[in-house]
Amino acid sequence: MAIRDVLKMGEPLLLERSERVTDFEELEALVRDMRDTMEALDGAGLAAPQIGVLKRVVIFGFRHNPRYPQQEPLPLTVLVNPEIEPLSTETASDWEGCLSVPGMRGKVERHQFIRYTGLDQHGNAIRREVEGFHARVVQHECDHLDGILYPMRIADMRDFGFEDVLFPALPQS
Ligand code: NI
Repeated sequence: MAIRDVLKMGEPLLLERSERVTDFEELEALVRDMRDTMEALDGAGLAAPQIGVLKRVVIFGFRHNPRYPQQEPLPLTVLVNPEIEPLSTETASDWEGCLSVPGMRGKVERHQFIRYTGLDQHGNAIRREVEGFHARVVQHECDHLDGILYPMRIADMRDFGFEDVLFPALPQS
């Protein structure tokens, strides 16, 4: 088990585009570290570049997440080489946080309904149609693979602030 350091916004590597995975044998250790790190920090998701690995791998999922206490459980998912397709033009605006932007939250507009496809860590196909928070998490994590952090998507910077001010009831990171 290895909890890795999560790179913070300002680190140039977070702005890079990650490479597609071709060798699945080397994924096992990476996925294990990503999972340990995400769980240790109560993340809803984590992308490989956040621990300094520029590969198109994201993980997400939780039963109950103290950082997003009102959200339904998300199935623990490893998604490799993901693709996202919006299923309608409907969008929704909601608060997001990120382990690379600790202590902050911002309101971001995302597609409400998406289909995502990709592979699991063993190379098996994944294809899901999801909505709401699940769709939001997938869009947020996949953005990391293209070097995009959620603050870049905040339309009105008045919707950006410190977690302990915006949501004083949350456990503070
Ligand atoms: Ni993030």
